[in-house]
Amino acid sequence: EIHITADRVKTRINPRMYGLMTEEINFAYEGGLYGELIRNRSFKGEAGYAYQAEEPVYWNAVGAAELALDRNNKLNDALDLSLALTLKSASPEQPAGIRNGGYWGIGLKPDTSYTVSFYAKAEGEIGPLLASLVKAGGASLVSGKVDGVGRDWKKFQITLRTGSELVPSKDNVFTLTASRPGKLWLQQVSVFGPTYKNRPNGLRPDLMELMAGLKPKFLRFPGGNYVEGDTFGQRFEWKKTIGDPAQRPGHRSPWNYWSTDGMGMLEFLLWCEDLGMEPLLDVFAGYALNGERLSSEEDLAPFVQEALDQIEYIIGGADTKWGAQRARDGHPEPFKMSHVEIGNEDVFDKSGSYDKRFSIFHKAIKARYPQLTLISTMAASATPSQRPEMIDDHTYAWGEAQMYEHLTDYDKRPRTDPKVFVGEWATHQGWPMPNMRAAIADAAYLASLERNADVVQMAAYAPLLANLSRVSGHSRDRSLQWATNLIGYDALKSYGTPSYYVQTMFSSHLGDVVLESSGRDIPNWTSDNGKTFPALHWVVTRKDEAGKPGRIQIKFASRAATDQPVRVKLTGVNKLAPTAQLTVMSSANPDAANSLDEPTRVAPKTQPLKGIAREFTLTLPAYSVGVLEIETR
Ligand code: AHR
Repeated sequence: EIHITADRVKTRINPRMYGLMTEEINFAYEGGLYGELIRNRSFKGEAGYAYQAEEPVYWNAVGAAELALDRNNKLNDALDLSLALTLKSASPEQPAGIRNGGYWGIGLKPDTSYTVSFYAKAEGEIGPLLASLVKAGGASLVSGKVDGVGRDWKKFQITLRTGSELVPSKDNVFTLTASRPGKLWLQQVSVFGPTYKNRPNGLRPDLMELMAGLKPKFLRFPGGNYVEGDTFGQRFEWKKTIGDPAQRPGHRSPWNYWSTDGMGMLEFLLWCEDLGMEPLLDVFAGYALNGERLSSEEDLAPFVQEALDQIEYIIGGADTKWGAQRARDGHPEPFKMSHVEIGNEDVFDKSGSYDKRFSIFHKAIKARYPQLTLISTMAASATPSQRPEMIDDHTYAWGEAQMYEHLTDYDKRPRTDPKVFVGEWATHQGWPMPNMRAAIADAAYLASLERNADVVQMAAYAPLLANLSRVSGHSRDRSLQWATNLIGYDALKSYGTPSYYVQTMFSSHLGDVVLESSGRDIPNWTSDNGKTFPALHWVVTRKDEAGKPGRIQIKFASRAATDQPVRVKLTGVNKLAPTAQLTVMSSANPDAANSLDEPTRVAPKTQPLKGIAREFTLTLPAYSVGVLEIETR
């Protein structure tokens, strides 16, 4: 039985409670959200753990071509090498050149335009080049000629449009060939498919649409570990990620693969703009993952300045130095931002230097931007020199039972402590992506966060994106560095996990206030290691929209293995609409998950529920998550 006291408000809920956390992991941008289809377009990338490109990885010869990296024929100081092709023999019948298989394939769809671009120069009369999208091991699907390659570097661009008869597939490659022998140099060889809102250098539409379904209100970026890098030199050095993508050097990410940084500062901000999110910037705070750190004011000064400049790039007027740079990059209007995080998971810095680092960054940022809420990555006790306004807590539960142990974390939190941003959290159950058990534990956790909305101001599941093309095998060619994640995809398809649907259910039924409620005779479940937990978790919220009747929202997570009839009693409410909207996701098999081939095996369904009164019975299906929304009159 659940008793709801509808006239007793427990606390208000932050309207910006739910957002996204993102970083370059699992080929989230390269081979994911960033619309580039060519892998290692700049030839600077190395597979696995190597630090400097030694061969043009992910590129192969077509015909009688020899491929080599050439550091003496660079395009510019950022892309400081090129691919040199020696075409020993080539003819229209037997062309020679290069081939790239994309990120485990190149996804092609019918009636779609693909923009090919590259920089090239040649020795002698190389003749026209042929850019083609080709069925792997088969025939060309679409191709176009590019003429005019000469002695000096020049950019070329051509659009290839697929025919209506093309069957969507990812088993395709890109080739660029010549039909005369000679010597050719290439750099920034790129193919873009359609992008969200047709933005140049933009983002993959299906992934943007899935994210839009989460109704996110903020984006924590650029990491995660990706902010810090393995070394100082491999941090997210934002100034090297703006402007012309061919002027961005790129860098190695801490997840062991190359970032071209095509997905740079402005691209993150436009991602926010397109999905109605506020940027929540995480600044590098003088600590890298290998333990390198600086903590004197003098040593940290350049990094503090880097952070101040970064904030100015986001919120500064076009009359400020970095706001003007943003305007030159194509966005004169400043973005709106209210929160900045200092560092990431500094609990791993065993030297205890965060107290100093946090207070130095805090002082400098507050002096310039007093309106910003500054988030610490450690508990207030770790930063005695400067009390944080907000703490970023990370809660990864290794198994559903562990998440059930976290459900009272914030009930116990002293209300005098700083507010909380749960900047990374997830239940790990299922492989490589979360199953229904994980989703139920996630929903129970979200209910616990909403019940404690006076403390917990914001939450973001992590990681967000995962390329599932190669989930196991050698790290040199694996697309997955971290299981489990919210959204999965390959070069062609994408889908939301059951955990994704939990997020959509909670964020699209975000109330304004939490109502008092209590339970009786709640059944239990017992975990594999013999621990017993309540099987039913819930939160009751109310949404009040001007000019509309209020809506009471009962969000629930049932871990019970059988259907559970729950008697719901409502007091403190006048009239109720007799029919409510019930959205439920359930699976008789709790180990069920979604996949690229079965993207909605586990997904919510909405239906009307009749018989709503001050007392009624709501039957929760076995293993279910849901929301019942009741209109008050
Ligand atoms: O989300 C994956 C990683 O988990 C993040 O990079 C890091 O912040 C955390 O340890």
